[in-house]
Amino acid sequence: MKFLLAFQVLFVFGIWIVPSLTQKPWDSVARTEQWWIERHQQFIASSANLGSDIKIVFLGSSLVEYWGTQGKPVWDANYAPLGAINYGIGGDRTEHVIWRIDNGELDGLTPKLVVLYVGSNNVPVNSNNDEIVRGVNTVVDRLHAKLPNTNILLVATFPRADQSDVPGTLRRIRDIDQKLEALVGGDAQRKGNFIDLFWFLAPSSLDRIYEHLYVADKLHLNLDGYTMWHREMNSTFHRLIQ
Ligand SMILES: *[C@@H]1O[C@H](CO)[C@@H](O)[C@H](O)[C@H]1NC(C)=O
Repeated sequence: MKFLLAFQVLFVFGIWIVPSLTQKPWDSVARTEQWWIERHQQFIASSANLGSDIKIVFLGSSLVEYWGTQGKPVWDANYAPLGAINYGIGGDRTEHVIWRIDNGELDGLTPKLVVLYVGSNNVPVNSNNDEIVRGVNTVVDRLHAKLPNTNILLVATFPRADQSDVPGTLRRIRDIDQKLEALVGGDAQRKGNFIDLFWFLAPSSLDRIYEHLYVADKLHLNLDGYTMWHREMNSTFHRLIQ
């Protein structure tokens, strides 16, 4: 009886802890929430329906998803008319976006440009910056393999002040951004490009964010933040959709 109880505790503990120990940012991993699977299926359906009408894909996590809420006025005025589509899902880490690419969301598309924002959600989960960099770089690899004629514009991870150690978090994000710029920026082989908006969102003292560009959670941007994102990305964006 005692043996059986110990076995059960280990087993329950085991299935809970094993995925977080073995899952790396460059793996291909589905999330388990039903709503997430349904969103993925909606994206597959929209790619099948719209096909070559999709000229630009915004891909990534909630900062992308919120182009449809906080940033919607800017999106409707500037990106929707150009044939842009929003494939952002809140909470996604690099491994989840890798899975979505691997499982058909971009199949059959011929976009000029993918705007990629991913990796921010790995920061609180993965303590090793280099592993996060490898995760984001793997997303770029998979994108280029799937869409070899498409430009990729990687947007550097934005500052966030929702964690207990804000200066430590901002220093980590700077380290990640600088390593990603070296890997992806100007990478003609993979049609990789990099844009860094970090200094529009936080001062060089790296101890706070410019809260007037964020919503109350200090992680997501408000409409002024999205207006800035659009304004500062605009010239690079238009060059890459020529
Ligand atoms: C963005 O760039 C396009 C093309 O160069 C230009 O027509 C447009 O006025 C620009 N918009 C902003 C807000 O800078």
